Amino acid sequence: MAPPTPLTPAQIQHFQQQGYLALPDFKSTVAMATLRARAEQMVEAFDPASSKTIFTTNEQVRAVDRYFLDSATRSSCFFEEEAFDDQGHLKQAKALSINKIGHAMHDLDPVFGAFSRGAALHAVARSLGLAEPQIWQSMYIFKQPGIGGEVGWHQDATFFDSTPISVTTFWFALEDATLDNGCLWVQPGGHRGPLRERFVRAGDGVHMEKLDATPWPDRSTAVPLEVKAGTLVVFHGLLPHYSAPNRSAHSRHAYTLHVTDARTAYASTNWIQRGTELPVRGFLAGAENAPAC
Ligand code: FE2
Repeated sequence: MAPPTPLTPAQIQHFQQQGYLALPDFKSTVAMATLRARAEQMVEAFDPASSKTIFTTNEQVRAVDRYFLDSATRSSCFFEEEAFDDQGHLKQAKALSINKIGHAMHDLDPVFGAFSRGAALHAVARSLGLAEPQIWQSMYIFKQPGIGGEVGWHQDATFFDSTPISVTTFWFALEDATLDNGCLWVQPGGHRGPLRERFVRAGDGVHMEKLDATPWPDRSTAVPLEVKAGTLVVFHGLLPHYSAPNRSAHSRHAYTLHVTDARTAYASTNWIQRGTELPVRGFLAGAENAPAC
């Protein structure tokens, strides 16, 4: 388990220059197994008939419906894009068909809350310049064997805009992430480029706004982040990144948190908003009891 110590100057410099930083052995095997078991419980309790919402960021193809919008303050399960056959039936077991759980487990579930908070994470956040970190979103990503979908090039600030931009992604590898099972790819230094798109909520709808025509990188300027289970990867909200489909026989579980600095102005058009009933909190607040999926 990582001690609650600040990052070294060399680590901070790497983050500032490259836009990302990998911290191996940040989470213990026990902590990861506990989170995984809780996620499996949530999937087991999930009734597929309640929603067939599919999640994808490709070409704005997003099954936007009430289920998706409500997931901002719930623990909701989303299917892989390729989970269903032409007749609408699951092609494989439910437990191997879920793309992710999102987006408020860190505030709703004690097990997720314990994994998502603590002095070690707070120290990392502070070292990266997040003076008053606020955790807006959690996602448990399964990247299922065989059907784990591609997540196209994007910047996370698209979904968590603020003035100035402060969103930082905390990406935990719960299994080894490899080229075979769809590890992250990033464009080193790409966080110095512009924000290309903004995901805007207007009433009960959401849409993507094009802000800048700068092309997305390709593999000639990108690097794969093959990391071991237990590694925490932190990256800047403007860093372009993507992950390839998982055509391997092995899953690639990961868990992410998206965090802004309360000193920056969180956009009122961001799709996730929090009110007094479920206020946004930082890394040092305690978890609360609440139902799961
Ligand atoms: Fe992302």
